[in-house]
Amino acid sequence: MSKIILTGDRPTGQLHIGHYVGSLRRRVELQNSGEYDKIYIMIADAQALTDNIDNPEKVRQNVIEVALDYLACGLDPAKATLFIQSQISELCELTFYYMDLVTVSRLQRNPTVKSEIQMRNFEASIPVGFFTYPISQAADITFCKATTVPVGEDQLPMIEQTKEIVHKFNAIYAPDQPVLVDPQALIPDTEACKRLPGTDGKAKMSKSLGNCIYLADTADEVRTKVMGMYTDPLHLQVSDPGHLEGNTVFTYLDAFAKEEHFGRYLPDYANLEELKAHYTRGGLGDVKVKRFLINVLEEELEPIRNRRIAFSKDIPEIYNILKKGSEAAREVAAQTLSEVKRAMKIDYFDDMELISAQSKKYSE
Ligand code: TRP
Repeated sequence: MSKIILTGDRPTGQLHIGHYVGSLRRRVELQNSGEYDKIYIMIADAQALTDNIDNPEKVRQNVIEVALDYLACGLDPAKATLFIQSQISELCELTFYYMDLVTVSRLQRNPTVKSEIQMRNFEASIPVGFFTYPISQAADITFCKATTVPVGEDQLPMIEQTKEIVHKFNAIYAPDQPVLVDPQALIPDTEACKRLPGTDGKAKMSKSLGNCIYLADTADEVRTKVMGMYTDPLHLQVSDPGHLEGNTVFTYLDAFAKEEHFGRYLPDYANLEELKAHYTRGGLGDVKVKRFLINVLEEELEPIRNRRIAFSKDIPEIYNILKKGSEAAREVAAQTLSEVKRAMKIDYFDDMELISAQSKKYSE
């Protein structure tokens, strides 16, 4: 069986280093591993509209930002199909048919949707489109028969929902020869990468909280943000013992630092364990650790930032890449949709057997 990747992001803002360690970095590694037959990376503008109904301009403007972030991170249009969700109208058709396979109470149980409803104060006025986006996400994942979906941990309920739809569809409509493919989620393997906190120590990076480090940030911006980062409020004097729990600087080091960084920037320590031990013992100041983090981040972010600037010099070419990618994705979606319609017995005009059997019935 082919190995196929599909994943994507809502274009509601520039991507930040939480997206990067949560999924982007992994995607690029998978792309370059050469182990996958096809890679689809989707800008989920239609999904973004489900909770930005009155802000279409925001979604429109951020499509290019996300595309630039993708290219900057190393996603390569020669190896991966980059496309825009709304341009694949087949996804709406698939969504419509999958809706028959999902109950309202099942959607109500989706923990990610639940917390998003709370966060957005939707309560009694939840848009139907928003409420049902997990079903549309199943269409995103299945149109290309994705086997692997690299995502952040918060997306696990969506993959679970997709699997249920796939199983139910195949069981009802394609019991002999499955049409849809069961996807596997691929989530980060360290806690720090699973949920990188904001620079203020809050649970999540979010644009509205102003606690993000963006891939597009300049070196100066990164430096200022790291210097202002939340550490350990009990660590008042350098000599005080420091705490690692909830200490954002150390969480970022968990996500970014490699052993070789120590040789280059902090040769007094062999690795992160030694640095942590000194910090908890006391006698290690926050500023020293922050300076180290800046070096570590810069090593990873500088090439991304430079590529982003280079790509941004030719915006028409980026739209061209997205257009070509969308055309390619659409062909694949049309193929899957036709298989789905055949399995659901709504392929009237292509079914010669149906036509001849009914002619026979009426000529007898
Ligand atoms: N829900 C994802 C997010 O908020 C974006 C997304 C839409 C997605 N469709 C997808 C992710 C399909 C993986 C697979 O980031």
